[in-house]
Amino acid sequence: MATKEQAKSKDGAQAEGKAKADGAAAPDGKSSADGALSITDSRTGESYEVEIHDGTIRTMDLRQIKVSEDDFGMMGYDPAFLNTASCRSAITYIDGDAGILQHRGIPIEQLAEQSSYLELAYLLVFGELPTQPQLERWTYDVTHHTFVHEDIKKMNEGYRHDAHPMGMLLASVGALSTFYPQAKDTEDHEERYMAAIRLIAKVPTLAAFAYRHSLGLPYVYPDNELDYSANFLQMLFKMENSFEPDPRLAKALDVLFILHADHEQNCSTNAVRAVGSSDVDPYSAVAAGVAALYGPLHGGANEAVLRMLREIESVDNIPAFLEAVKKREQKLMGFGHRVYKNYDPRARIIKKHVDEVLEVTGENPLLEIATELEKRALDDDFFIERKLYPNVDFYSGLIYEAMRIPTDMFTVIFAIPRTSGWIAQWLEMKDDPEQKIARPRQVYTGKRDQDYVAIAEREGPEKITGPPARRPKLLRRGA
Ligand code: ACO
Repeated sequence: MATKEQAKSKDGAQAEGKAKADGAAAPDGKSSADGALSITDSRTGESYEVEIHDGTIRTMDLRQIKVSEDDFGMMGYDPAFLNTASCRSAITYIDGDAGILQHRGIPIEQLAEQSSYLELAYLLVFGELPTQPQLERWTYDVTHHTFVHEDIKKMNEGYRHDAHPMGMLLASVGALSTFYPQAKDTEDHEERYMAAIRLIAKVPTLAAFAYRHSLGLPYVYPDNELDYSANFLQMLFKMENSFEPDPRLAKALDVLFILHADHEQNCSTNAVRAVGSSDVDPYSAVAAGVAALYGPLHGGANEAVLRMLREIESVDNIPAFLEAVKKREQKLMGFGHRVYKNYDPRARIIKKHVDEVLEVTGENPLLEIATELEKRALDDDFFIERKLYPNVDFYSGLIYEAMRIPTDMFTVIFAIPRTSGWIAQWLEMKDDPEQKIARPRQVYTGKRDQDYVAIAEREGPEKITGPPARRPKLLRRGA
């Protein structure tokens, strides 16, 4: 790509060759452009042609658009990546307008109905459904890496009794890198495989340990005789040797794990890829994903949904709550999605399972509030105009609560299956020859070329900025 005028010049020819080499080719490198975008720069009157591949242009192709020789060149400005593809990926397909979600081409509805979480994890990591022997080997490997080093327990002892389990999980996933330093060799395919196995196997154990710590209860070790979800339930709840997880609850949890396993370039996956692009070990990269998931606008939303439902307290209070949302005094948690502008297909599947779980565990009064809240919101112009529908988090919290899982643990449970998505995305990034260390540009808006002023000569208000040196006593939580 080059200006039409420059195309014949030496520099122009180089620019064109570079643009072609950079062109968004298919993985086989042989695809030709779908078309071209013609751009005329009104500042200079110059015209440019930018190749289009897969409905995208390369923003690097804009760089040659300059007003002068020493101009840096045009960049794309896209805060929060609203319209920027950061990678090519063959893992998860989403059509947000149509409400479609597929992993490796298989619809989420079929996976939720017919697969298991561990089989899906294999599919995400390797790209194909496993054969019977492959699945047996994969299951064996995961099952036999569920134990964690005893020193993790010592680490946990350092936390306060009310430490948020997500903070504990974040730290312990990062700490795994110190137990498996060989994982730093990210080019070694065996190390990559072992990291995938260990992360998928150990995250439930770390999660359950964080939960038991919050109750001051002794940790329960993994039980290799149980499947993935049943084992997690027993690590949470076992109080005596006879504990047997209800198979219906284990199945519902497995479906929830399937629904949360991957969701293409969401906030936490982007964090894993961005941090992993520095070539740090995969445990540290996945810890970045856990940190991102912690936020209430991402994985923390199901926790926020339950708090919201409790605050609403009764169906009678729903109209007032919705009015407050419309006045922007509140947010309807569990509604809205950056990608889905339709009903989140995962929410539809979860909704079906809520009743099954409540049959085992007994009624939950919050379900009535949730159902009525959804109905009224979907009938309300404010939500219709903005295409706000329930997302995966709207109903998942109700299932967790019915299983007697405390609210603080919801995001932790989300992190368990998302680990397979993070590691699959990390592996894909490692094998992508186009990826480099992630390093966005900025549009600088600050001052330039200021002289340093000695402190005695500085002028300004007496007001001190920042938090008060002494906070009110009640807010203090110790040293
Ligand atoms: N309640 C009320 N209004 C909302 C909500 C909501 N939950 N979500 C979006 N809106 C409004 C916005 O105020 C905005 O209105 P405006 O155009 O009049 O200003 C409009 O809808 C568009 O919303 P954006 O903020 O531009 O949407 P964005 O894609 O940036 O945000 C997000 C998506 C963060 C998920 C948002 O919908 C939200 O905060 N939802 C609640 C939190 C939640 O449930 N998160 C879970 C997401 S799923 C997951 O992470 C697994």
